[in-house]
Amino acid sequence: MPGKAPRQRGVLIIGGTGSIGRLVAARLLELGRLPRVLTRDPDRARRSLPSGVEVVWEASWPTRRPCAPPSRASTPS
Ligand SMILES: NC(=O)c1ccc[n+]([C@@H]2O[C@H](COP(=O)([O-])OP(=O)(O)OC[C@H]3O[C@@H](n4cnc5c(N)ncnc54)[C@H](OP(=O)(O)O)[C@@H]3O)[C@@H](O)[C@H]2O)c1
Repeated sequence: MPGKAPRQRGVLIIGGTGSIGRLVAARLLELGRLPRVLTRDPDRARRSLPSGVEVVWEASWPTRRPCAPPSRASTPS
């Protein structure tokens, strides 16, 4: 579509907010890829993950704690 950049394919990381997944996300950023982190707690994930990491969550999931709807929700393509 003219004037619209194609959406970058990302790499979905389950557990990307954890100690191991965080390293995976950082490495993907270094490699120029788009890490997409699936989490039950998008607010906490956004606070703790570096910029460039996309936070993905599923609204129908029970969250670990109540949170406001994210401003940038997305689903993997
Ligand atoms: N760290 C090590 O040295 C080590 C060594 C050997 C094996 N392991 C294994 O590797 C795995 C990851 O370790 P870690 O240290 O990175 O763990 P961690 O720091 O405790 O992180 C756990 C991750 O799993 C996600 N998670 C937990 N329960 C989930 C559920 N019900 N549905 C979806 N996501 C869920 C959490 O996501 P949210 O809370 O954001 O939803 C978080 O990102 C674990 O299975 C661990 O036993 C770890």
